[in-house]
Amino acid sequence: MAFEFAEVTSDGDFSELIPLLWRAYSTEPRVTPLPLTFPADDDGAAAREKQVAQCQAAMMHMHRSDPTSHWLKVTNVATGKIIAGCRWHIHEENPYSNAPDKPFCIPFWPEGDRKKYAEKIVGAIVQPRKTRYQKPHLSLQVIFTDPDYRNLGAGRMMMEWGTKKADEMGLESFVEASHLGSLLNQKFGFITVTKELVDTHVPDASDEWKDMETRFPPPPVYCMWRPVGGQYEENMSLPW
Ligand SMILES: CC(C)(COP(=O)(O)OP(=O)(O)OC[C@H]1O[C@@H](n2cnc3c(N)ncnc32)[C@H](O)[C@@H]1OP(=O)(O)O)[C@@H](O)C(=O)NCCC(=O)NCCS
Repeated sequence: MAFEFAEVTSDGDFSELIPLLWRAYSTEPRVTPLPLTFPADDDGAAAREKQVAQCQAAMMHMHRSDPTSHWLKVTNVATGKIIAGCRWHIHEENPYSNAPDKPFCIPFWPEGDRKKYAEKIVGAIVQPRKTRYQKPHLSLQVIFTDPDYRNLGAGRMMMEWGTKKADEMGLESFVEASHLGSLLNQKFGFITVTKELVDTHVPDASDEWKDMETRFPPPPVYCMWRPVGGQYEENMSLPW
């Protein structure tokens, strides 16, 4: 099967990429930070459509307003359809030097325990970046392949792009990965520095909190680092 690989340059691609991202992240094993960031009232089709539309608008806005953002796509040449995508960031400077010191917030949730739960899980991934990734670096923020096209090399194409850039620029790279993502990343010189799991236990948990624990159990997060050049050696000091 022939695949074509390209950087996304047109807004039109997002109407294919974002529904595909949701399908890929909703297939078991699910990647739950996405529905925790873009909430829905229920698990029905109409609610999902709203989530995807909200996500698409937010992702396009973030991409347009952030010159470090690079979306990539892999297309099946025979059908012309996008079958995989990802977003790398190239930070030539510390992106957190002016980061405001305020609590992490997901604006799309109404106030309450559901919002607090989502912020606890997603915040545990996002907040440490400020102290861990202060040097110039690349980071991989999302990566997904259509479940019908997995293990055919699309993920490899997207990893090759980012790791080649990192090597050309002499930069280290980071990613917070799912289990599946960690298997892919380790083929490209990433090592797991810490495997992190949020403890969601709270005393006297409300029904809302318990419902969130059931629907969105915290995933193990593989916090991965790729040293400059991609060759980890035992005597290297770890980034955190
Ligand atoms: C992770 C993901 C993007 C991989 O995409 P893919 O197109 O199937 O990857 P590739 O076919 O290019 O595989 C590349 C390498 O990763 C390894 N890999 C990929 N999936 C694997 C699996 N399920 N088990 C073991 N190894 C796997 C392969 O061994 C392969 O190495 P090889 O070429 O030496 O055989 C895909 O599984 C996915 O979309 N998962 C769901 C979303 C997700 O978890 N994303 C990661 C978030 S950090």
